Amino acid sequence: MQLFIFRQVLKNKQACDKIIVYILHFFRRMIYLEKFIVKGKGELKGSVRISGSKNAALPILCATILCGEEVILEDVPELKDVEILCEVLRGLGVEVVHKEKNVYVINAKEITNTVTGEELMSKMRASFCVMGPLLSRMGHTANALPGGCAIGTRPIDLHIKGFKALGAEVIISHGMVEASAKKLIGDDIYLDFPSVGATQNIMMAAVLAEGETTIENAAMEPEVVDLSNFLNKMGAEIRGAGTSTIKIKGVKKLHGCRHQIIPDRIEAGTFMILAAATGGEILIENVISNHMRPVIAKLKECGVTIFDNGDTINVISHGKVKAFDIKTLPYPGMPTDMQAQFMALATLAEGTSVVIETVFENRFMHADELKRMGANINIDNKTAIVQGVQKLRPAKVKATDLRAGAALIIAALTVDGETEISDVYHIDRGYENVIEKFRKLGADIKRVNV
Ligand code: UD1
Repeated sequence: MQLFIFRQVLKNKQACDKIIVYILHFFRRMIYLEKFIVKGKGELKGSVRISGSKNAALPILCATILCGEEVILEDVPELKDVEILCEVLRGLGVEVVHKEKNVYVINAKEITNTVTGEELMSKMRASFCVMGPLLSRMGHTANALPGGCAIGTRPIDLHIKGFKALGAEVIISHGMVEASAKKLIGDDIYLDFPSVGATQNIMMAAVLAEGETTIENAAMEPEVVDLSNFLNKMGAEIRGAGTSTIKIKGVKKLHGCRHQIIPDRIEAGTFMILAAATGGEILIENVISNHMRPVIAKLKECGVTIFDNGDTINVISHGKVKAFDIKTLPYPGMPTDMQAQFMALATLAEGTSVVIETVFENRFMHADELKRMGANINIDNKTAIVQGVQKLRPAKVKATDLRAGAALIIAALTVDGETEISDVYHIDRGYENVIEKFRKLGADIKRVNV
């Protein structure tokens, strides 16, 4: 409306559009220029409430496409990635109402478009998860190819393999991937790797297909289980989510429902490591401790005391931790999304730690940033050897991706002095109220625009 009035006043649409593009560009640059200034103050203490899981919320938002009735989602984290996905859904004709903090009311009664272009796809890879539900409900979907990202090439061959097995014709050309099918028919699909996104996308494609689909070597992550629970609440018939074999019996139609997103296990793990690294004591609230097994086990091994109360976890550090080894694996193994934070902890551990990354091929970029702070890290292919040092020092560092950014905050909070972290828009993609939550624990951290 304001834009319309603005246009009328200027009576020159072209000039007006140029000004709008300039203003948007200016604001975008402002966001990219934001930095965090962090000063280490020793122990952090207090409690932190974990937000809803980003990685559960994103596919569940996509799954709302499958039903033409109202869906209410609670505990949706207020994050940039969620905003972008809502923009993608609106572009498809879905009604998305941000009703109140963390609550979205979504109605996909009419889908008016099945194509998502490069502009939105390039902002967030998870937008690719609209393909399964669109194919299932509309028989057609076309998306810009997600392409590579900071942590690796991240192909989508397994998603496509699944769509084809269900009977879709898939064409890749001019940077777009298009899938269409008059009717999807259930089949047996074996995933060469238990990809989280492929498991979720195929599950969503299969819920309205004719007959039964079996996904073997499926991802077992809690976010897959949350999606399955949500789909079943809408009337789907899915069994086995959380195991490596998921069976989906196609149904004719889904109906509206209300669903609360599970707590974010990666955010919880990040604060647990924060307590361990700063010698502090942090009570983690709103967590499902069963999802935290690998993190709890590793922190105990390093000498950290953990009280596991099911939906809260108390983490008590006793100063320096012992060196440890981790190897990232699909769930229930150590999450790759915790690797950077554990590496930050290892930089200050007593002895030599070994960190092996097996899930993504290029996920050690934070090592160079930690080295700027005085860390002693040597990388050979997928293995990082981290020799613990007495202290890290202040430096100017860059958040190269989301979890790398979290690792740098943890490291910076142990430093005697001021650390400047740039490119913090990555951190805002995945951590809700990040500054407020760290400050509540006593951290000296502020956002600046330079
Ligand atoms: C999800 C998470 C991400 C997490 C990752 C692994 C979301 C929004 N993101 O990403 O935070 O780090 O799981 O736990 O939930 N692969 C293929 N072919 C495919 C698909 C994947 O080779 O078609 C490979 C990838 O390149 C990667 C590995 O499988 O090496 C794991 O990827 P995947 O489990 O699919 O991760 P995402 O779903 O993208």
